[in-house]
Amino acid sequence: MTPKHIGFIMDGNGRWAEAHGMPRVEGYKAGLEALLRVASECAKCGVEVISVYAFSTENNARPQEEIAAIFDVVTKFNKAYDGDFKVIYMGDVDSLPDEVAQSVRLVEYNTADNEGMTLNICLNYGARDDIIHAAKLAYDHGDYTLDTFESNLSSGTLPPLDAIVRTGGEKRLSNFMLYEAAYSELFFLDKLWCDMTEQDVDAILSEFECRNRKFGK
Ligand code: FPP
Repeated sequence: MTPKHIGFIMDGNGRWAEAHGMPRVEGYKAGLEALLRVASECAKCGVEVISVYAFSTENNARPQEEIAAIFDVVTKFNKAYDGDFKVIYMGDVDSLPDEVAQSVRLVEYNTADNEGMTLNICLNYGARDDIIHAAKLAYDHGDYTLDTFESNLSSGTLPPLDAIVRTGGEKRLSNFMLYEAAYSELFFLDKLWCDMTEQDVDAILSEFECRNRKFGK
């Protein structure tokens, strides 16, 4: 079966730029190109949603130049995007600089009626914050059922997260969709994100089909 929802931890953009003799910030531009390749192939293969980790709450501790470069790539994408993906965001966007936050609202508005794959961009996102927020809502409403709790997460309206792919050689989740990851199939690739190709997506989807998903049964 094709996964309905895949999460991508897009790691290795800075290292890719350094390996090509470029400043790290150039890696995020190449990272966007890789994202568009990966997203198009996922859509072509019938994936309904991809969630991509563009900026974690912890990334706020990075050098200002790097943060600005990531926001610049994201803002330009938001302003220019005219494809058929439905673009949505997850994370504390309102705390970001006005221009970034406004571009997020713009692309969400412009693509709201699109019928293509959903591209869920996790920006200023952290899974622990999201879980605590969902728990507070449960407390406020006095409703502690599993279904309600899950609907309180930012991913509440999205299909279950079938798989998580992390590039760049590290084997950890780094505060990405921790609750949703409970039964996700995990893929760790040594390849740097900017080097991802359509064939890599096809290989992941083929391996996913071979995995025996038991959900604890
Ligand atoms: C991981 O660190 C990656 C990031 C912090 C940001 C990734 C963002 C993009 C590729 C831009 C995507 C664009 C849109 C519109 C969503 P790193 O790549 O700096 O890691 P490294 O230091 O290990 O190389």
